[in-house]
Amino acid sequence: MRQAGGLVCGIVGVAGSIGERLGSALKKCLERLEYRGYDSAGIAVTGTGGITVRKGKGKINEVDARFNFTALDGLSGIGHTRWATHGKPSDENAHPHVDCTGEVAVVHNGIIANYRELKEQLMARGHRFISDTDTEVIAHLFEDYVKAGLPALVALRETIRRLKGSYAIALLYSHEPDKVFFARNVSPLVIGVGEGFNFLASDIPAFLNYTNRVITLHDGEYGYLTPSGIYVERNGEPVNVEDRVRVINWSPESAGKEGYPHFMLKEIHEQPRALRETWAGLDMDYVSKLGKAIAEARRVFITASGTSYHAGLILDYLLVSLAGLDAHAFNSSEYRKYIKLVKEGDILIAISQSGETIDTLMATRVFRERGAKVLAVSNVVDSTIPRESDYQLYTNAGPEIGVAATKTFTTQLMILTALAANAALHSGGMGKEAYSLVLNELEQAPDLVNTTIINVEARVRHIAGKLAVKTNAYYLSRGIGLPIAMEGALKMKEVAYVHAEAYPAGESKHGPIALVNQEFPVVFTVTDDDYLDPLEGNVMEMTARGAYTIGILPSRHYAKLGKVFTEVIQTPDASPYLLTIIQSIPLQLLAYHTAVLRGYDPDKPRNLAKTVTVE
Ligand code: F6R
Repeated sequence: MRQAGGLVCGIVGVAGSIGERLGSALKKCLERLEYRGYDSAGIAVTGTGGITVRKGKGKINEVDARFNFTALDGLSGIGHTRWATHGKPSDENAHPHVDCTGEVAVVHNGIIANYRELKEQLMARGHRFISDTDTEVIAHLFEDYVKAGLPALVALRETIRRLKGSYAIALLYSHEPDKVFFARNVSPLVIGVGEGFNFLASDIPAFLNYTNRVITLHDGEYGYLTPSGIYVERNGEPVNVEDRVRVINWSPESAGKEGYPHFMLKEIHEQPRALRETWAGLDMDYVSKLGKAIAEARRVFITASGTSYHAGLILDYLLVSLAGLDAHAFNSSEYRKYIKLVKEGDILIAISQSGETIDTLMATRVFRERGAKVLAVSNVVDSTIPRESDYQLYTNAGPEIGVAATKTFTTQLMILTALAANAALHSGGMGKEAYSLVLNELEQAPDLVNTTIINVEARVRHIAGKLAVKTNAYYLSRGIGLPIAMEGALKMKEVAYVHAEAYPAGESKHGPIALVNQEFPVVFTVTDDDYLDPLEGNVMEMTARGAYTIGILPSRHYAKLGKVFTEVIQTPDASPYLLTIIQSIPLQLLAYHTAVLRGYDPDKPRNLAKTVTVE
């Protein structure tokens, strides 16, 4: 099982008395952080009788039903909601984690990059580990330092000195039961300042029902909360944080979306981060092993549903046209067609952000039974499809709450493009230099996507104003741009309820053009340089019938094509491999803004579920 680095998980901590049991308050706080992860949850409290930990696999409510968080009370407490990165979701891997003595409990968000090395050192010193997580080393390191006689705060300082990577930590130590110790590096951590109590959390909404006075901690800061005080240090020197208190006027609900009106918009905007984390989590040696296996496979099948299928079509396009391989992409609900074709030596690449879509799972099982090896590409570590597959690759987009897939799609494109390029390297379809160029470009994706969001949103909103009163639209493209047009049409259909259909632009003359009349919207994605002239011809055909044409094109084609469309959305320049990712952004934004202007809630499209587990 491959594990990717991670960016989410939610942590909370509280010291003091808040007029209700700490377990009940911590549970409420965790529910406000569930958008950061929901595969396991746990709470620890400490009082005069030592530390009590309750934790397990599942959503907060499920774990609460098993362990009754609400019954827990004490002088201080910590809690965690998890999104697995190191170690599958399980009771053992759920946080909080404890040391050998049970006197230390810790919750953590981030990645301890050097945890293997630390774990080996600690095991050699006799420490016993229970979980597969990177987090557990923190509890044991702290234990070592307090055993050596260091005061708790110094032990914390020495502990974090040993850690490489990112972390927001909350820690309980039973000998100082009224304190919650904390430390921050890279991963977010904020303090909620109360009267007779203080909170700590990954994000403000966690404690907004209790206090709206907030201090944001900076990298390198650590310290502790007590019921009446906050003590912060950096490198052994006290830091005065009193003048950093801000009063927040958000409602707890809007704060869960970090100030965005909808999760869909928040998730569109967080794509630079999701792409960066996905790239950082990609083990290129493993990609190379998979690329070789794909290049050597007898035949490559690709299966997925919905948005993931569109990512699969990009993979199919690249494996055929770039790597010269015998690849076939199909909707997973249609897998039966291929059953007789599947033989040992084949590979099936099953793409599913949730890892639970039943059609994709059925295809996985049937293909495996017939001797194919299966590579799962998913956003959810240890979900069913990856668990039942031979190989796993994970996007690292964090949990996606909006029903419409956005950041999980572009991160899929990133991984699949790297994989296809590697297969092309092994098949001889691509030289080393060209391969390096693709990887270099993919590395630029987070920055270019960021620029795209900044540059296009106002223009897209203007165009959405026009689309909001329409009932139909076409999305046309050629070559590698076609799956992106298909994805744009799906987004428009599912959140804005505008009937949108995608076609190969050349196909539009064979029927669809009959519908086109004055002001009929036609969106073109201009992605593939090989098709510029015929595509221009298709735009002209639409224009001649009075269509309202919208061209999404990289700036290098502006001189040639800028004037042929009614509206132009210009994106940064990049090769077609990267343009697929970049051009997805205006298409997602167009669907989002059209939905909002039409008065619909894009986070909850009617008739749709985030995960489809019925055939
Ligand atoms: C569209 C969307 C769906 C999913 C499809 C597959 O925005 O989200 O079309 O892409 O249900 O889901 P996964 O990728 O979880 O298998």
